[in-house]
Amino acid sequence: MLGHHHKVVLVGDGAVGSSFAFSLLQTTQEIDELVIVDLKKEKATGESLDLQDITPLTSPVNIHAGDYSDAKDADVVVITAGVPRKPGETRLDLVNKNTKILSTIVTPIVESGFNGIFVVSSNPVDILTTVTQQLSGFPKHRVIGTGTSLDTARLNVVLSEKLNVPVNEIDALVLGEHGDTSFGAFDEATINGKPLKEVTNLTSEDYSELEEAVKNRGSEIIAGKGATFYGVAKYLAYIVKAIIENRNVMLPVSAPLTNQYGINDLYLGMPAVINRTGIERVVDYGLSDTEVEKLKLSAAKMKEVLDGVEF
Ligand code: LAC
Repeated sequence: MLGHHHKVVLVGDGAVGSSFAFSLLQTTQEIDELVIVDLKKEKATGESLDLQDITPLTSPVNIHAGDYSDAKDADVVVITAGVPRKPGETRLDLVNKNTKILSTIVTPIVESGFNGIFVVSSNPVDILTTVTQQLSGFPKHRVIGTGTSLDTARLNVVLSEKLNVPVNEIDALVLGEHGDTSFGAFDEATINGKPLKEVTNLTSEDYSELEEAVKNRGSEIIAGKGATFYGVAKYLAYIVKAIIENRNVMLPVSAPLTNQYGINDLYLGMPAVINRTGIERVVDYGLSDTEVEKLKLSAAKMKEVLDGVEF
């Protein structure tokens, strides 16, 4: 599907969007054009100029402000637009506001003739990814959300601190909702390839504490600096790079469930392989029975919210 000219359209030039663009340009060699769309056109223009100034140190990229019609021949449209959480708000509190915003974006983008892949990070991300797929009518594998990629990073960071092991030696996924019903897949987690459960003596209280630390981390960051952006922006850039450069990376993202564990018609944090086709496949991670129960709880919560969403 991807031609030789690799084009990305970013919708939403807030802190997440601009950090994403900054990271993408530094890590992705094969991008030719980056279009920034924001209701504040002057902000998008200023951002483009600022980002152009890094291109002598990256690769030549045509960076400019634009509008939804620019999606016509884009490979990827990244949506970060929406109201962010305020202190004390949950991601689910944002659902109706951000669904409304999303529908004003997805419809004109589809009307432009866009035939690429949507990547969504706006919250609540699993819901908004599901809504993007429904509004666009795109095949499910061409819509991806950042999901629990960030929660997974956070779990690896807190485990690294707790166990005093370098973070890159830890492989422990967080799955389910990017939010309060997420859970750590500790039964499959490894350290240097060895089962976490064999090489540590963490107790179930430790697991709960680690999960709580992961869940609270976003709020902790918001309490401190007012917003979270580098973390999610980096994973967004990683996903877009995997698409543009056809890298077949496995990452937990908001992935479409099509009867895995009997769950259907919704996106939820699950490991998936990402390449130029979008979600190449959702990985069967061999979850244990207790983890399947947690995933089903997450799915039930998401369904309840989705049923109440108007769009
Ligand atoms: C966070 C926001 C992106 O968890 O949901 O940092």
